[in-house]
Amino acid sequence: MTSRHGLSRKAFIAGTGATLILAGGGMLWRAEGGIFTAEEGPAYELWKQPWPEKPAANDLIGIVSAATLAANPHNSQPWLFKMEKDRIQLFADRSRKLKAIDPDERELMLGLGCALENLSLAAQARGYKVDITLLPQGPENDLVTTILLQSAEPSPSPLYNMIPKRRTNRSKFSGKPIPEKDLAGLSQLGQADPALRLHLYVKEIERRPVGDLLVRACEIQAGDRAQHAETASWFRKNDEEILKHKDGITIDAGGSPYLMRIIAKLVISDKMIHGPSFGKVFVKNTKMQVESASAFGIISAETKTHEACLRAGRLFQRIHLWATSRGITLQPMNYFLENRPDMKDDVAALIGSSDRAALIPFRLGYGPDVPHSPRRGGVKDVVMA
Ligand SMILES: Cc1cc2nc3c(=O)[nH]c(=O)nc-3n(C[C@H](O)[C@H](O)[C@H](O)COP(=O)(O)O)c2cc1C
Repeated sequence: MTSRHGLSRKAFIAGTGATLILAGGGMLWRAEGGIFTAEEGPAYELWKQPWPEKPAANDLIGIVSAATLAANPHNSQPWLFKMEKDRIQLFADRSRKLKAIDPDERELMLGLGCALENLSLAAQARGYKVDITLLPQGPENDLVTTILLQSAEPSPSPLYNMIPKRRTNRSKFSGKPIPEKDLAGLSQLGQADPALRLHLYVKEIERRPVGDLLVRACEIQAGDRAQHAETASWFRKNDEEILKHKDGITIDAGGSPYLMRIIAKLVISDKMIHGPSFGKVFVKNTKMQVESASAFGIISAETKTHEACLRAGRLFQRIHLWATSRGITLQPMNYFLENRPDMKDDVAALIGSSDRAALIPFRLGYGPDVPHSPRRGGVKDVVMA
């Protein structure tokens, strides 16, 4: 069975048996149900849209589509857009907020910041200069950003071209070190916003405390009933659920190798997802993810305001797109910030300051290609009248 990521031993053994029986009988009858395939069907269409070097000008729907391909918490896609001739408004959809994991809306705002970064890159590629106002009606209001669009020379960028290639990678990384040149590139990117700081943990002695705290936090989260139930509610166990919701965490995005994913799809049940083995797999996978990482990063700000989180989301998305262009793969890992005030001092020790707020931790490295996650994205799904 699978949690935010993977498969238990018991499920593996049961699944191996199931696979043999199926193969033996020549019964590939579930192939069309997404057992043997990934990333197929309407929930994945947005990733496959044409992505020309010079996209058509004045295409607001194209701009919004690019925004919806951003990273976001639990693939909850907590956004809505309003399009007018010369502006786009980005709204938080608080009905999609993770109440148990993200009560202070750090992740909600980060995800919206990621969408804003994609939106801005896509607008510039289509010949618009963007003028962005964050939280024009205050932090509690659902209107999160107003983006004024003024005609300008189109400026497609290498980061824009990475939007449909980027994805969260939860697989086992190779552990290969990141070259000095790319570490320097990352550090430079981390200085783009003076309100933020990028902390990098590269040497074993630097990585160890980050990894240890992640594992400790994940062990607590695995036993936290409300947080477990919330993650389980965003889990989409088969093609039918993926097609229905076009959101959430899937087996294919869990990072397991192909054969393990087939087995997981054959044996998975709601009972498993809502039961204790889900947490065990979560811990086991987190250990594997931490141990195989080449480096960790944490973005911090002076305070954890909604504005700081939006800005950090923009920077994180830029880092992720840039890393993609360098063949470096990435996974946000937030467990010690997910409603864990008891870990405040440990986090302060990691970033070397109790006067700053850690906003988004992530791991970096090299891993196999993994399938994309589903997306809503038809105009009716995410665009307000
Ligand atoms: C603020 C934020 C927090 C996230 N936290 C985690 C996390 O702790 N573990 C994880 O595996 N993925 C995490 N993710 C990745 C999302 O689950 C992922 O972006 C989403 O499922 C969509 O998939 P994609 O990034 O491949 O498009 C996080 C993403 C964001 C923006």
